Amino acid sequence: MGYRLIPIGRICKIFRGWVHPNLLVRVSTLVLAVRNLSKKFGEFAAVDRVSFDIELGSITGLIGPNGAGKTTLFNTINGYYPPTSGKVYLDSKDITGFPPHKLFSKGVLRTFQKAHEFSTLTVWENLMVVPSNQLGEKFTQTCLARRKIIQQEKKIKAQAQKVLEFLELEEVADLPAGNLSGGQKKLLELGRTMMVDARIVFLDEVAAGVNRTLLKKITRAILSLNQQYNYTFCLIEHDMDFIGALCNPVICMAEGRILTQGTMSEVTNNEEVIQAYLGARAKDKALQ
Ligand SMILES: Nc1ncnc2c1ncn2[C@@H]1O[C@H](COP(=O)(O)OP(=O)(O)OP(=O)(O)O)[C@@H](O)[C@H]1O
Ligand SMILES: [Mg+2]
Repeated sequence: MGYRLIPIGRICKIFRGWVHPNLLVRVSTLVLAVRNLSKKFGEFAAVDRVSFDIELGSITGLIGPNGAGKTTLFNTINGYYPPTSGKVYLDSKDITGFPPHKLFSKGVLRTFQKAHEFSTLTVWENLMVVPSNQLGEKFTQTCLARRKIIQQEKKIKAQAQKVLEFLELEEVADLPAGNLSGGQKKLLELGRTMMVDARIVFLDEVAAGVNRTLLKKITRAILSLNQQYNYTFCLIEHDMDFIGALCNPVICMAEGRILTQGTMSEVTNNEEVIQAYLGARAKDKALQ
């Protein structure tokens, strides 16, 4: 894990003819490495010395009872909270504490547990605003580079059209995003991550509150993005069928820590995981 042997002479054009075609070279397949990451609110450690790796082209599932620290972990990796301690590496480079806009430009994208659409903009517009550094955003360019702006917008519109078709959202494309159902808003969030080149996409409860038909659509979309476009995902979800259908490996958190990681069946059969879920349920019942 973490490395793959590739025949360099066959895969990389520049080495063709220079080295033996069967010469194997070790290349890293790690996209993200999290090391001893902690996030404290006062004395309370919502994320407590968490370490894990994410492999290129994988779909990693993050599960755990309510309050386990899953969203806080995402927020700390994604630059919404500065970590109290620990490190995050993207492609072996230290990105600890980088702000969200800087991570976005490196292809680290995320969706939110509660959808963050621009509610008065149409679905089209919500997609088209995603790519950064659009020429039309600069006042001087609107006078000096009209043709370039039009060309760039055409390209972005074509990409938005592809995304709308892919997610079957064409029918609602001209509606204000605020009018969409909860499930459609989640699809739109996923669509926004498809407007730029992604290195890794973090999805926080993308299936929560979504009806069965939309859930199937989201599952298909994630799978084809992963298989056809080699997208790497890390996703939080409570729906175990959804996790089981998509994720390997699965990581389980409780009380800020990673309890275990492995295949879905390894994790769900783990005694500590069972206890963590039963304990959380007992706590919920006591509060009712
Ligand atoms: N900004 C904050 N200030 C103080 N405590 C916080 C803050 N954000 C989260 N917490 C606490 O950190 C703990 C972990 O919360 P978090 O939202 O990360 O859990 P979660 O695993 O995502 O839960 P859920 O499955 O319900 O979304 C909780 O006890 C929560 O109350
Ligand atoms: Mg959460």
